[in-house]
Amino acid sequence: MQTQSPQQWLIYCRPGFERDCVEETQAKPIIAIDNSGYVVLQGKPHLSFKQLTFARQLLDIQADVANLPERDRLTPLLAAIPDSPSQFSALYLEVPDTNEGKMLSGFTRRFQPLLEEKLQASHRLSSDMALPRLHIFFPDNQNALICISNPLNSSASLNGIHRISMTHDAPSRSYLKLAEAFEVFLDKSEQSQWLKPGMTAVDLGAAPGGWTWQLAQRGLKVIAVDNGPLKGAAATHPAIKHLRQDGFRFRPQRPVDWLVCDMVEQPQRVATLITEWFIGGFTQRAIFNLKLPMKKRFVALNDALGTMRKALDAKGIRYRLEAKQLYHDREEVTILLARKG
Ligand SMILES: C[S@@+](CC[C@H](N)C(=O)[O-])C[C@H]1O[C@@H](n2cnc3c(N)ncnc32)[C@H](O)[C@@H]1O
Repeated sequence: MQTQSPQQWLIYCRPGFERDCVEETQAKPIIAIDNSGYVVLQGKPHLSFKQLTFARQLLDIQADVANLPERDRLTPLLAAIPDSPSQFSALYLEVPDTNEGKMLSGFTRRFQPLLEEKLQASHRLSSDMALPRLHIFFPDNQNALICISNPLNSSASLNGIHRISMTHDAPSRSYLKLAEAFEVFLDKSEQSQWLKPGMTAVDLGAAPGGWTWQLAQRGLKVIAVDNGPLKGAAATHPAIKHLRQDGFRFRPQRPVDWLVCDMVEQPQRVATLITEWFIGGFTQRAIFNLKLPMKKRFVALNDALGTMRKALDAKGIRYRLEAKQLYHDREEVTILLARKG
C-alpha cells in the first residue's frame, strides 16, 4: 500500500475520451491509457466537476492498493481506508466502463455487503448525505484506488453513470439522452419549476421523435421540426405539432420555454443558431447536442462555446452554460444554456 498526495484525481470518462479529459483539466497525466475509461491526474489542487465536460466522476485519490490477494482482498482494502474523514455517507465499489470492467462488476456486487458490514461495525458509515462518499475503484482484479468524493463536486451515481430506463412507447433511444440531460443539469426544484405541464418547446431535428416524446411525457406542448417523419406514438400525440421545415430557418411566432436541438451539423453552426434564438428572445432555455466526430474534439467544443459566450456577453445577456458528455452521448456532448434573472 502506498499513500498518494492529496491532490491526485481519478476521473471516469467514456472509453476513448481519456485525452479529452486530460486536455480540459490541463493537469499532468499520471495514468491516461486509451480506451481505459479513466485517468489519474495531478498538479491541480482544485477541479470543478460541473466545469468538466468529459468527466463522469471526479474523485480525490487517498491511496492505492496493489497486488490484492485473491483469497483475502478485504484485509488490505480495510487497512488502506483513510482515518479521516471519520465517517462516509456511502460506499461505492466501482469499475471502468469497459468489457473488463463489466466482468469485474459481479465481484464488486458480491463484495459490497461484506465491506459495508465491516464499515458499519466500526461506525464509519452514516446516513448524513452531506458527508464525503468512499469509493474503491478496481481498474482490474488485482489493484484498487481508494478515493473520496465531495457530494457537492462529483456525481452521485455509481460509476458516474446516470442510468435511465427506457419506456416501451418511446419512438427512439435518443429519448434517454434528453431524460438524462434533465437529471444531470437540473436539480429537483429546477425540474419542477422549469418543466411544468402546459409549457412550450421547440425540437429542431426532432425525427423520429425521442426528445419530442420526452417533452410531451412531461406535459409540454411541442413543435417538432424535421423533414423526416415522427414515429410511433409521437406521430399522433395531441400535444405534438410536426412541421416539415428547415430547422435552421424556423422561428416560433411566440417565445417558448424550451428549445432542444439534436441536428447533426457542424458544432459552430449549431452554436450560432442557438445563440441567435437567445439573442432574439425566442426561448428561455435550451438543451442541445454538439456532434464531435473530428480529431480535435476539445478544440472544436471550446471554439463553439467560445463563440456563444462572446455573442451573449456582447449583448449583456446573463446565462448559465454547462456542457457534459452524458452516458447516452457517443461522439457528442450535451449542452444546457439557460437565461438567468
Ligand atoms: C439524430 S436525429 C434526431 C433524433 C431525435 N432527437 C430523437 O430523439 O428521435 C437528427 C435529425 O435531424 C434532422 N435534421 C438534420 N438537419 C436538419 C435541418 N436542417 N432541419 C430540420 N431537421 C434536420 C434529421 O432529419 C434527423 O431526423
